[in-house]
Amino acid sequence: MYKKIDMQNLPKHIGIIMDGNGRWAKRRLLPRLAGHKAGVDALKRVTQAAKDLGIKVMSYFAFSTENWKRSKEEVDGIFDLVLKHLKENYDDFVKGNTKIMTMGDISKLPKELYDLLLDVTEKTKNNTDFIVNIGLNYGSRSELARAFTNLAQKGKVEITEEDIRSELYTNELPDPDLIIRTSGEMRLSNFMLFQNAYAELYFPKIHWPDFDERHLKKAIIEYQRRDRRFGNVKQEKNQ
Ligand code: FPP
Repeated sequence: MYKKIDMQNLPKHIGIIMDGNGRWAKRRLLPRLAGHKAGVDALKRVTQAAKDLGIKVMSYFAFSTENWKRSKEEVDGIFDLVLKHLKENYDDFVKGNTKIMTMGDISKLPKELYDLLLDVTEKTKNNTDFIVNIGLNYGSRSELARAFTNLAQKGKVEITEEDIRSELYTNELPDPDLIIRTSGEMRLSNFMLFQNAYAELYFPKIHWPDFDERHLKKAIIEYQRRDRRFGNVKQEKNQ
C-alpha cells in the first residue's frame, strides 16, 4: 500500500550522491557523458520535487576531489554541463527565491564556470525559500583539513565541535537528515562526513538518471519510518 508523506516530519536537508550515470549510459550503449546529461535532467526534476514538497536544503555531490582522475573529456564534459545548467537557469535562480551555494575548492574549476558560480552565489545569497548546495571539487577530508588550518591560523588551541562547524563550507546549513546514494553502492565516498554524523542513509538500487519524484517520495517515507534517537533512548522507555 502507498503510504503518505508526513508533512510535519520532513527532512530539512537532503544530500544526494548522484551515482550510476556511467552505468546508465553503458546499458544503453551511450557515451558516459550522455549519462551525466541525463543526470542533470534528474537533478532538475528532483530539485523541483523537493522544493514543491517543502524541503529546505538540497545538497548534491556533482564533482569530487577524486573525480579529476577521470578522462579529460569526461571532466570537461561534466563542467560544461554544470555551466550550461547555470546559464540556462540563471534568470530563474536570480529572480526566484532559491539560494545557490557551493562547497569545495571552486577556484580550480574552469575560469568561466568559476566566475559564473561566484556571480550566481552572490546574486542569490539573500534568497531564503530554498537552498541548493552543489559539491564541486569537494571532498570532506580536505574540507576538514581546511577548517583545521583556518582555526590554527586564528590561533585556536582548544578546538570545539562548533569551531570546526563554523569553518565548514556548510556552516550556515543544518546537518543533512537524509543522504541518498543511488546505484546500490553503500558508502559515503568522502561526502559531508562531519555533517552526516546522524544522517539517515538510503541506498536505492536505481541509477541516478532514472531517479524521479516518486523515488524521492519513497526515500522520504523510508526516512520517516526510521527511529532517530541521536544517541538517546526511545522516549517511552525512558519514562
Ligand atoms: C557519478 O556517476 C556521477 C558523477 C561523478 C557526476 C555527476 C554530475 C552531474 C550529474 C552534473 C551535475 C550538474 C549540476 C548542474 C550540479 P558515475 O559516473 O560514477 O557512474 P558509474 O559509477 O555508473 O560509472
